[in-house]
Amino acid sequence: AYTAEPFVPGGGGLSALRRAAAECRGCPLHRDATQTVFGSGDADARVMLVGEQPGDQEDRQGEPFVGPAGRVLDRALEEAGIDPAEAYVTNAVKHFKFTQAEPRKRRIHKAPSLREMTACGPWLAAELAVVEPELIVVLGATAGKALLGSSFRVTQVRGTVLEEEIHGRAERLVPTVHPSSVLRADDREAAYRGLVSDLRVAAQALR
Ligand code: URA
Ligand code: SF4
Repeated sequence: AYTAEPFVPGGGGLSALRRAAAECRGCPLHRDATQTVFGSGDADARVMLVGEQPGDQEDRQGEPFVGPAGRVLDRALEEAGIDPAEAYVTNAVKHFKFTQAEPRKRRIHKAPSLREMTACGPWLAAELAVVEPELIVVLGATAGKALLGSSFRVTQVRGTVLEEEIHGRAERLVPTVHPSSVLRADDREAAYRGLVSDLRVAAQALR
């Protein structure tokens, strides 16, 4: 089975993890992507935000949430009262998955498979063990399934504080929609308001 497990160092902090993740070949996604996009932020961050996987811009720049979805996310976080600079930001899957009709054509995001999510899980587990956040903000269905299992339904639990055991530790989580779903929504303003209102629940849980 695909797994990142043999690539994850036994000890060390975030910089050791980041260096090791750059060499991960735990699943086939490393082949076509530019680079591993590891999480970013401080080891002592109180809140961890978990997205799906890097997009086109993230793949080029090597940082999570630096493209259009990241701009929506940062604005919504600030409006909800969470400083984006104080959050640890990462993804369930660390390599960009895409389809491309021809070289030099636009790269179109493709959702990661369950096998790829499972393969990449040890990196997220290692980040959680180092950061030990007080709260996890779950951004969308892929992050939710990666953390809470395949029965996760974002519409049923968004904007609520969940308490679940993850990798043997009690965690508090607030799920919400993925910020890129705001960009695709028919009523963007309503979708954005919904995101902000869920993030306010997270901000309240951090007080
Ligand atoms: N979407 C994600 O889920 N993560 C990113 O880093 C960028 C876009
Ligand atoms: Fe490793 Fe995750 Fe990249 Fe797959 S997606 S190669 S498991 S870092």
